[in-house]
Amino acid sequence: MTSSDVWDESVSSTYDADEAAMFAPEVLGPAVDRLVALAEDGPVLELAIGTGRIALPLARRGLAVSGVELSEAMLGELRRKPGGRDLPVVQGDMATASVAGAGGFALVLLVFNTIANLRRQDEQVACFENAARHLRPGGRFVIELGIPPLRRLPPGQVAVPFEIGEGHVGFDTIDTATQESASHHYRRDPDGTVRYDVGRFRYLWPAECDLMARIAGLELEHRWADWQGTPFTAESEQHVSVWRKPLAP
Ligand SMILES: C[S@@+](CC[C@H](N)C(=O)[O-])C[C@H]1O[C@@H](n2cnc3c(N)ncnc32)[C@H](O)[C@@H]1O
Repeated sequence: MTSSDVWDESVSSTYDADEAAMFAPEVLGPAVDRLVALAEDGPVLELAIGTGRIALPLARRGLAVSGVELSEAMLGELRRKPGGRDLPVVQGDMATASVAGAGGFALVLLVFNTIANLRRQDEQVACFENAARHLRPGGRFVIELGIPPLRRLPPGQVAVPFEIGEGHVGFDTIDTATQESASHHYRRDPDGTVRYDVGRFRYLWPAECDLMARIAGLELEHRWADWQGTPFTAESEQHVSVWRKPLAP
C-alpha cells in the first residue's frame, strides 16, 4: 500500500490552472526539448503522468509515451484532453506498477518533485528499481527534484515560505529528523474564496538519489540545475539528474 496522498477531484479539477506557471512555454519547452533528446526516438514511460503536462507534448513530438498514475481523478483530466485517451496508462503505484513493454523503454521520467510523494525511503528505493526494470540496456531514468530549502530554515523554525502573493501563499513545513515535509497552499479564487490544500512528502538529497540509483543498478550520466543544462552548484535550487542502465550487465 503506497504512502502517497491520493489526489482527488478537489485537486485534479484545478491542477492545470493552479500550476499554470509550469505549463508556460518557457518552462515546458526546454523540458520537452531535453526529454526528446534523451529519448533518442525510443519509447518513453512517465511515472506519475498526471494530467499529461509533459506526456502529451512528448507524444505530439512523435514519441511513443506510456504512463503510470495513482489518481483516478488526475487520469480523468488527462483523458479529457486531445490525445489523452491514446496514451496507454496503468493506474497504480509508480513504486510497483508494471507497464507493457517493461525492459524496453529508452527513457523513464519522474518530474516536478514527484519522487518525494513517496513518503518512505524504501518506497523511493523501490521506485528507482521499478524505473530500472522498465529500461532497456543503455536507457535513461530522469528525475526533476527540488533541493530541500534547509539553508533557509533557522534553528527553532519549522516553516519556509516559497511564494507570497495576492493569489497564492505557499510554505513548506519541514521535520529535519524524519525528512518529512509538507507544502501548504492558500489560494484565492476570483470570487474571493480562499482554498487550502496540503501535500505531504519525504524530501531527499541528490546524494541520496545517487545511492538509490546505485541500488537499482543505474549510473549517473548528468546532473544539471535545470532543463537547459546549467551546471549544478551549491546554489542550485533544483536538479535534473539522468542515470543510465549499463549496456552490459
Ligand atoms: C506534481 S504532479 C505531477 C504530474 C505530472 N508529471 C506533471 O509534471 O505535471 C504529481 C502526480 O503524482 C501522482 N502520484 C503521487 N503519488 C503517486 C504514486 N505513488 N504512484 C503514481 N502516481 C503518483 C499524483 O496523483 C499526481 O498526478
